Amino acid sequence: MPNDGYLDESVHWKVRNGLLGFAEPTHGEVADAILEAGLATEVGQRLGSGKEADVYLGRDGRRRIVVKVYRQYRTSHRGGRRIQMESMGQRASREFELLGYAWQGGARVPEPGTRVENMFSMQYLGAPDRAAPRLQQARLDDPAAFLRDTLAGIEGLAEAGVVHSDLSPFNILVHEERPWFIDLAAGIRVDRLGSPPWVRLHEAFRALQAGGATLVRYFRRYGLEFDTEELLRRVRTKIELYRLE
Ligand SMILES: Nc1ncnc2c1ncn2[C@@H]1O[C@H](COP(=O)(O)OP(=O)(O)O)[C@@H](O)[C@H]1O
Ligand SMILES: [Mg+2]
Repeated sequence: MPNDGYLDESVHWKVRNGLLGFAEPTHGEVADAILEAGLATEVGQRLGSGKEADVYLGRDGRRRIVVKVYRQYRTSHRGGRRIQMESMGQRASREFELLGYAWQGGARVPEPGTRVENMFSMQYLGAPDRAAPRLQQARLDDPAAFLRDTLAGIEGLAEAGVVHSDLSPFNILVHEERPWFIDLAAGIRVDRLGSPPWVRLHEAFRALQAGGATLVRYFRRYGLEFDTEELLRRVRTKIELYRLE
């Protein structure tokens, strides 16, 4: 596997440094699983690789798509047992469901496609020859407008009933000069509150506060500031309006 040309540099780094176990399936095995599940008609390169999942470029007929595949193994530096298929299926299903709520609610997230077990397809963001860059690596032409869109986008997500609990310039893609929110893996549903409700709301606001602080640090590179507390107030209003309906 260390010589597998399909793996991106971050994966090679983790392999070299012993952070990834070798239980990982090969690109060919993952591609077969995606094709067999009928999620794509063609599977291309890996676009990204996080703690728990990998994202692959693909095609469904003539349409470009991406497929997110939750892995069945744990990174070895954390130790612990391999995570079973079923629990990764649950995680994929959870993210897929949140993506569906966000999309239906009009938030700027990739349109969800289909989920099968630990994998799901969604709309590809990017130009034909280049996937949309993460905000972290992008160069913004109009950072002030982008910041406004980002804050409005976070409110929009809340309006759709979802709080993104892992906001960072790695989970916002720049597509057609607008912010697109991805990676709702740990998102929090805020309109259908379980019991006791305030625990989940509290968790959502804490996560948003952390994400807001991360974005404040990011936008400073453009000399821009915003008030996280103000963002939280706005989101709170959106959620309360939602709950009163
Ligand atoms: N819909 C998409 N269109 C284009 N690229 C995507 C899309 N979804 C994810 N990616 C790419 O895959 C990477 C990993 O996706 P993400 O959902 O953040 O997974 P994780 O962080 O859990 O690995 C992203 O940083 C982005 O580069
Ligand atoms: Mg991510």
